[in-house]
Amino acid sequence: MARTLHRLITALAAAVAAVGLLTVAPANADVTPYIVGGTRASVSEYPWTVYLASSSGGQFCGGTLVKGNKVVTAAHCTVNRSAASTRVVWGREDKQSSAGIVASVTNIWVHPSYRTATSGYDVSVLTLDRNITSAYLPLASSADTALYAAGTSTTILGWGTTSSGGSASRYLLKANVPVVADTSCRQSYPQYNSSAMVCAGYPRGGTDTCQGDSGGPIVAGGKLIGATSWGRGCAQAGYPGVYARIATYHSELTAQINA
Ligand code: ARG
Repeated sequence: MARTLHRLITALAAAVAAVGLLTVAPANADVTPYIVGGTRASVSEYPWTVYLASSSGGQFCGGTLVKGNKVVTAAHCTVNRSAASTRVVWGREDKQSSAGIVASVTNIWVHPSYRTATSGYDVSVLTLDRNITSAYLPLASSADTALYAAGTSTTILGWGTTSSGGSASRYLLKANVPVVADTSCRQSYPQYNSSAMVCAGYPRGGTDTCQGDSGGPIVAGGKLIGATSWGRGCAQAGYPGVYARIATYHSELTAQINA
């Protein structure tokens, strides 16, 4: 009896402590309302931007429609999932609406060399149960070196969190960030591999993809140059976002897209 009471008091104390932490955390007034440092985007302007959801509807990653029934995303988004428990939501800017199409997934291809996001190969192709009539985004190829040059302006898109550890966005958000030089990204991250990845962000931070944006597009010159992959926190000075380098995987992805 005394033991039960003691357990109860311990649990109560833990709960009180947790609430205490919660009340301290929101004091960070510098949290920007959107992506991190972004603004609302319309799905009619970015019709190939999709999100991945569980069977119960919860959004967990982003993706890009690259053909009527094919979506490119990140391997770390799909590696532990079954096709049966995965949905692709197209044309739904507001996650709380029922706009657009919810497609089922019939096959998940994960790059066979994928192990962890920070070691590369963070690419995956989903096959849908239907053809979605929409504009598709072409993949960057090895001919697109200019799109990967430092300073190239890109657009990042997603429904992910608006701050590191924050809550996910209800609406599709976008932001523009410049490509970061490989040498510079290597200085930020010892794991950086310039053949498997590309970095984007401002030296001072402030604008970035974040948790839940993974798998979604980074676009330059009207092509998909990357899939959101990883980073240290989000939008931190000196730590840009890291994206899977689509041009490197162009032929393997194309083989899956045409399969
Ligand atoms: N791994 C995250 C995801 O699963 C994406 C993180 C991107 N981080 C960043 N700092 N850009 O959604």
